[in-house]
Amino acid sequence: MSKLSFRNLIDANQINENDLNLLFALTNQYRNTNHRQIIKNGDCYGYLLATLFFEPSTRTRFSFETAMQRLAGQIITLEQGMSSSIKKGETLEDMGRIISNYADIIVMRHPQIGSVANFAKYATIPVINAGDGSNQHPTQALVDSYTIFTEKNRLDNLKIGLVGDLKYGRANHSLLSILSKYSSNQFTLISHPSLALNDSQKLELTNYGCKIYETADLDPAMADLDVLIVSRIQQERFSDPEEYAKVKDSYHINKKTVSKGKPELIILHGLPRVNEIDPEIDNMPQAKYFKQAEYGLYVRMALLSLMIK
Ligand code: NCD
Repeated sequence: MSKLSFRNLIDANQINENDLNLLFALTNQYRNTNHRQIIKNGDCYGYLLATLFFEPSTRTRFSFETAMQRLAGQIITLEQGMSSSIKKGETLEDMGRIISNYADIIVMRHPQIGSVANFAKYATIPVINAGDGSNQHPTQALVDSYTIFTEKNRLDNLKIGLVGDLKYGRANHSLLSILSKYSSNQFTLISHPSLALNDSQKLELTNYGCKIYETADLDPAMADLDVLIVSRIQQERFSDPEEYAKVKDSYHINKKTVSKGKPELIILHGLPRVNEIDPEIDNMPQAKYFKQAEYGLYVRMALLSLMIK
């Protein structure tokens, strides 16, 4: 039996403090052990992961697949979901039943909100949500939390700025679910007004006792922050290209922006970036996004290893 509190990981609200402690301890272990030794240990030997992707992905799919293979497990993959029998009209429900006979665990990404939760009802093996539309992306939030914890040594008592797409950015939604449960966190929500966090999510934050501030101006907010989470404007969620054109260049973080923050500020981005972070800051000590992508591998190794047992 897994020591984690969940069997499927669909929503970051399922993750409690004990889950995070278990995951982070194993993540540290994998991060500090030689890859070849980990393969020899074979924590997922004899298990098979199916990755089902109905939307583009680089880091999430590759890091899950690398993770499984580094643990001596195997993978089968559907990189372009529409190349499957879904195109012939097969339902996700039937697909869930079928893949459950072939694999031991499933990672799935799909554009529709709630689709992965529905799929999981019909699957008889654990399912991990790798993004369902603009709703949730819990494993990215685990990666973000691990990065913050590693860099700052705590997940509480932080002043956290989130800038970019708070309406459609699913990783932001999941990260807020995790961090709002730690005490004394304060959130500055920085977005174009049309991309603000929705009211029910704001209410959830205040219900957990978090202070929230909302603004469209990044520069004045910088001085106070310990952590800045940057997100891409999610172009694929806009039905009107003109609406996207209006907001796409709202934020561009460069050396001048960073100079307004504390020297110990850390800047995260789940990537891919388009224009929101200038490459001129990539080598500054504040920039942690490439490290964050690397940590994604170890966090997903820990998650697979704990969920599969
Ligand atoms: C994110 C996603 O797919 O939601 N990407 C990722 O998994 N690292 C963020 C994004 O696409 O902007």
